Amino acid sequence: MKKLFIYYSLSGNGNVVADYLKDKNIDIRKVIMRDKIPKSYIGQILTGGFLAGINHKAKLSNFDNNIDDYDEIIIGSPIWNGKLSCPINTVLDKINLENRKISFILYSGSGTAPKTEKIIKNKYGDAKIIILKEPKSNKKELEKVL
Ligand SMILES: Cc1cc2nc3c(=O)[nH]c(=O)nc-3n(C[C@H](O)[C@H](O)[C@H](O)COP(=O)(O)O)c2cc1C
Repeated sequence: MKKLFIYYSLSGNGNVVADYLKDKNIDIRKVIMRDKIPKSYIGQILTGGFLAGINHKAKLSNFDNNIDDYDEIIIGSPIWNGKLSCPINTVLDKINLENRKISFILYSGSGTAPKTEKIIKNKYGDAKIIILKEPKSNKKELEKVL
């Protein structure tokens, strides 16, 4: 059973999850956003938060959408304004998840994401969802994964 973790990270929490999964022999594919995002946190909240709120699909650099080798796809996204991040909206639009098991690892400031959970359940049925509270500074959160 070959698994691939496709994820986005703006400030490093997703990278901590990726390192953890790499040690468990899960392949990693990090998504890079081509859209510019402000350097200041408040600018990021305003810009990213607004765009995520309207389900914007960000432009990605060199995204490889071939998942033929994998049985399970794990999607990793920060929560932006209660929703999935814009780069992950693009990933979900561009990969063909037919006949593939899918699960989600979400990371957020509050450790909750009720709106996104609802959206995922509506779209992906019983996909497993794990929500971590800032795993970069709370390493114990990683114990919720696998
Ligand atoms: C644009 C933006 C919007 C955010 N919105 C939320 C939110 O609605 N709820 C929440 O709990 N955290 C929110 N956060 C915090 C991030 O979800 C959290 O810090 C996450 O761990 C970041 O992951 P990363 O470091 O991999 O980018 C937001 C952060 C940004 C930059």
